[in-house]
Amino acid sequence: MTKISIVGLGLMGTALAETLIKAGHEVTVWNRTDRKAEPLVALGATRAADVAEAVRPGSLVIVCVLDYATVHDVLRQASLEGTTVVNLTSGRPAEARRTAEWVRERGGEYLDGGVMAVPQMIGGPGALILYSGSQEVFDRHRAELGALAEARYVGADAGLAPLLDMAMLTGMYGQIAGATQAMALVRSAGLPVSDFTTTLLLPWLRAMGELLPGWAAEIDDRRWETDMSNLGVNDAVLEGIAVAMREQGVETNLLTPLQQIVAKRIADGHAGHGLQSLIEEVHPDLHRS
Ligand SMILES: NC(=O)c1ccc[n+]([C@@H]2O[C@H](COP(=O)([O-])OP(=O)(O)OC[C@H]3O[C@@H](n4cnc5c(N)ncnc54)[C@H](OP(=O)(O)O)[C@@H]3O)[C@@H](O)[C@H]2O)c1
Repeated sequence: MTKISIVGLGLMGTALAETLIKAGHEVTVWNRTDRKAEPLVALGATRAADVAEAVRPGSLVIVCVLDYATVHDVLRQASLEGTTVVNLTSGRPAEARRTAEWVRERGGEYLDGGVMAVPQMIGGPGALILYSGSQEVFDRHRAELGALAEARYVGADAGLAPLLDMAMLTGMYGQIAGATQAMALVRSAGLPVSDFTTTLLLPWLRAMGELLPGWAAEIDDRRWETDMSNLGVNDAVLEGIAVAMREQGVETNLLTPLQQIVAKRIADGHAGHGLQSLIEEVHPDLHRS
């Protein structure tokens, strides 16, 4: 079994360490606040006295701390020569690229990871971790990484895992925004939202979600026509919803940005295009071409 060091024992780092110990790996742990290592030592982990003791040549070092600035602060305390760093700290693509370069300059190999799970899901079904950076590291440590979550390698550019992580979160926030606005309207009629959510909203969102791959293909091909519903129709629907919300005493602040962008596309002469064409407003390169 591989010797693995876990640097950072917050909620996520602890879950990662626990899972790897239970999978039979020899795990060394380090955390700024030392006492967080105790339950893991009780499970069989070795506690490193300092970062340099955890980050040794030949070791697989999984780092999971607050942010990338902390990653640098912590790893600076050790030599990275001959080490393999897998960074599961959340951050931006540019930070991941800089960190990959920084680790390589210090003689280490680097793989970045975006954790698509909460700590309770680590080691269980449904957890996904996206990886980018050194494919050699990913292939070599596939078994250990696979013990944590479904491990998916997305490319050599270290920034790709955080970029896709952020893209997935963005989709989730959009769904939360729409659902919150919808629930506010339901509450305005004095109804509880639980029943509405399970019996109406969720099946509807699932059905609508099935349309996304078709839209995505149209975006990839830059096809803005539609045989479903054009921006003119959607503008009227959105205006109707906005007026109804106000009549019910509900703010429209989570919906207004979408309504404004649809109105702008129409003003620019694109009333006949489909909703997939809104991407032209948010991605300047597509807009120019
Ligand atoms: N929790 C989740 O559901 C989840 C999901 C996906 C991704 N993530 C990502 O995983 C990372 C860790 O999250 P978490 O939930 O484990 O957070 P957390 O429980 O708040 O733990 C933060 C960790 O960072 C360490 N840390 C903070 N500042 C430090 C410093 N200046 N020097 C050294 N260590 C420092 C903390 O050490 P101390 O114990 O000494 O404070 C602790 O080990 C974050 O990037 C987060 O975005 C978390």
